[in-house]
Amino acid sequence: MSFSLSGMTYCIHTFGCPMNKHDSERISGMLDTKEALPVATIEEADIVVFVTCCVREAADVRLYGQVQSIKNIPLREGSPLRKRILAVGGCIGQRDGEKLTNEMPHLDVVFGTHNIASLPMLIAAAIENGGHQVEILESAADFPTSLPTSREHAWAAWLPITIGCNNFCSYCIVPYVRGREKSRPLEDIVAEAKAYVDAGVKEITLLGQNVNSYGRDLYGEPRFADVLDALDATGVERLRFATSHPKDLTDEVIERFGTLKSLMPYLHLPVQSGSTRILKEMNRRYTREHYLDLVRKVRSACPDIALSTDVIVGFPGETEEDFQETKSLIEQVGYNQVFTFIYSKREGTPAALIDDPTPREVIQRRFDSLVEVVQDSAYRLNQPEVGRTLPVLVEGVSKRDGLILAGKSPHNKTVHAPVPEGVRPEDLEGTIVNVLISEAKTWYLSGHVVGAS
Ligand code: SAH
Ligand code: SF4
Ligand code: F3S
Repeated sequence: MSFSLSGMTYCIHTFGCPMNKHDSERISGMLDTKEALPVATIEEADIVVFVTCCVREAADVRLYGQVQSIKNIPLREGSPLRKRILAVGGCIGQRDGEKLTNEMPHLDVVFGTHNIASLPMLIAAAIENGGHQVEILESAADFPTSLPTSREHAWAAWLPITIGCNNFCSYCIVPYVRGREKSRPLEDIVAEAKAYVDAGVKEITLLGQNVNSYGRDLYGEPRFADVLDALDATGVERLRFATSHPKDLTDEVIERFGTLKSLMPYLHLPVQSGSTRILKEMNRRYTREHYLDLVRKVRSACPDIALSTDVIVGFPGETEEDFQETKSLIEQVGYNQVFTFIYSKREGTPAALIDDPTPREVIQRRFDSLVEVVQDSAYRLNQPEVGRTLPVLVEGVSKRDGLILAGKSPHNKTVHAPVPEGVRPEDLEGTIVNVLISEAKTWYLSGHVVGAS
């Protein structure tokens, strides 16, 4: 259908994981094609799109608050519309569908995770006909590869290699809102990567809820190591991926950390719990010992690799003893970054049916004590960086100080350095500079630029 959104402005608010961030880039690409103009704030926007997450309760609650408060923001002067168009999509859109318009009658469009391609058409229909435009599909017919994208940064690209998830961890809503796992043909992935490299992209991050099982549905066996090889051969400077399920992390993939030049020495390997009993309840399908064994193998392939993980505290029935096992695992592994979450009950998941007598204060205390361990270990592991010169991909300037460059080291650590004299920070964005590290804090390193890489 041919139509235009010319003269209209839009902004997209994105919550949740990189999958959503990538979907938003596709949405933005499509709205640009329809000639709508991106703007930074809701005040300036004729069309507001929320791309939502429901992995934990907090994200749900936040969406409702934000969508309600938009009612009070007047439409900009000069808008071609009589009323601002509000669209909600992503994982809450997929989960709640039509129901959202009962709770938030001023919503115009609801879409899901399998039909972002329909969004411009739904917006046009809402402008033309009014009423609620709701479209939710049960699953995607194909891998949505043909949509345009408008990337946030010219030098970095997300590249989805699988969508959906088949793992059904017992606490997790993702398989219900993202559908079954589908892999994208290797040739398509490589073609997109080559186009990015030709366009000057320095860093590609491969995306999937579990990249390690890539290819099982297409080729009958996981072929993630082949994806890594093919991507390395494109000449991309930096290659990363997320997320990796420990049960499917193969020796071949581990070995690539030692052999592929572009594969950055950083692995996010979510453990969720250090107690084999809880891991079983979570349906994670590995044990504490198996996980620790993987860490040993990864470190032997790439001794200075940086590791990060996700942990859930307060899974129903977690005892003090289970928790201590998580804490000791975190201490033992030594992570550069740990994303700690308090268990959040998600209706429709098997864990939501398990009663839990553990008082909230006990869970909070466990959580707080874990955060301390995490901070200590991040601080300690950063100290040996002092005195080293690291190649840093400049992402821009620090949020707090426009004269300080901010970027990432190969280990995915944030690095700060003053903008060198006579240089405009914009000119360094997306380039790799060498930084001599002089100070190491818990969450960042700082130093001075000593030259281009
Ligand atoms: N597919 C990815 C991550 C998806 S969600 C993976 O498996 O690694 C990101 C993180 O959110 C998970 O790793 C888990 O730690 C956390 N999470 C998921 N469901 C949760 C819940 N119900 N309560 C608290 N944290 C949760
Ligand atoms: Fe959720 Fe588990 Fe799938 Fe990750 S692997 S998205 S935690 S079900
Ligand atoms: Fe959230 Fe959906 Fe990602 S629930 S974590 S945005 S897959």
